[in-house]
Amino acid sequence: MGTGVGFGKAILFNEHFVVYGLPAIASAISAKTVALVGKRAGSGVELTDNRPETKGYKAEKADQQKESLDIMLKFMNIDTTHSAFRVTLGGDLIAASGVGASAASCAAIARAFSDELRLGYSDEKINEVAYEGEKGYHGNPSGIDNTAATFGGLIWYRREGASQVMERLKLKEPVAIVMGNTGITADTKAVVGAVKERKEKEPAKYERVFKEAKQLVEDARRHIEGHNLGKLGALMNENHRLLQEIGVSCRELDLLVELSLKTGAWGAKMTGTGKGGYMIALTPGKELQEKVAVEIERKGFQALRTTI
Ligand code: MEV
Repeated sequence: MGTGVGFGKAILFNEHFVVYGLPAIASAISAKTVALVGKRAGSGVELTDNRPETKGYKAEKADQQKESLDIMLKFMNIDTTHSAFRVTLGGDLIAASGVGASAASCAAIARAFSDELRLGYSDEKINEVAYEGEKGYHGNPSGIDNTAATFGGLIWYRREGASQVMERLKLKEPVAIVMGNTGITADTKAVVGAVKERKEKEPAKYERVFKEAKQLVEDARRHIEGHNLGKLGALMNENHRLLQEIGVSCRELDLLVELSLKTGAWGAKMTGTGKGGYMIALTPGKELQEKVAVEIERKGFQALRTTI
């Protein structure tokens, strides 16, 4: 039996802008997806998805998941007409929008096939397979989610034409965050497509917002390197405002951001695709993290306590 893992992630700065070549910052979180791959009799792949989920997520993503798996098998040159496999997904990462669930599953599946069939894939190769798999969910992914899912840690990421540039960043020590789940499943392909349409319709506005986003992420990098968490939190708030301007937030995400800030978070923003999914709040220290998480739960949302 082959096994593999993929990390969940939180995008700290510049989701969506990253699709157009701007730098972005993401961090893997401790929650992971685990894939098991075993041979069975017959032909084809049988997938059992035991991941915990936000209600309705798996059903909504079932077709995209199948497409993603087919793309990855083809890319890995695995013939399933004369051989058959059982793929089982599990782990503690909730299958939900905004935490990199699709990318984590792609990286985990790629690793598990490599393990089972002794393909000897490097992390770079796993990342390539996971990127292909992401195409089943995203259409035209920037590559940030699969990169975070494969390599883990805190990363600076930029797409440069066909190539993907990743640099590792380091915080002096891990910082507590809370991720609040709206419980709404988003369609990344549709949300990314809608941004593209609006960008084409309002070029002047988008040029201004993109310029601000570029400056903002460069400032954020300096504040990560200097462990200046106050400034970092303020930039997260600014990044949320830019994401609101390009129309990817929603009422529930704004509510979670406001609630977190009111409870004392140092900064908060939506994370990932938006239009549902998760919000991330910077809550240095266990006490503040707990306070914000409890407040989110009191309002009936799920809260994930983790670190970046
Ligand atoms: C989704 O997690 C992040 C987006 O920027 C899409 C992408 O980068 O491919 C919205």
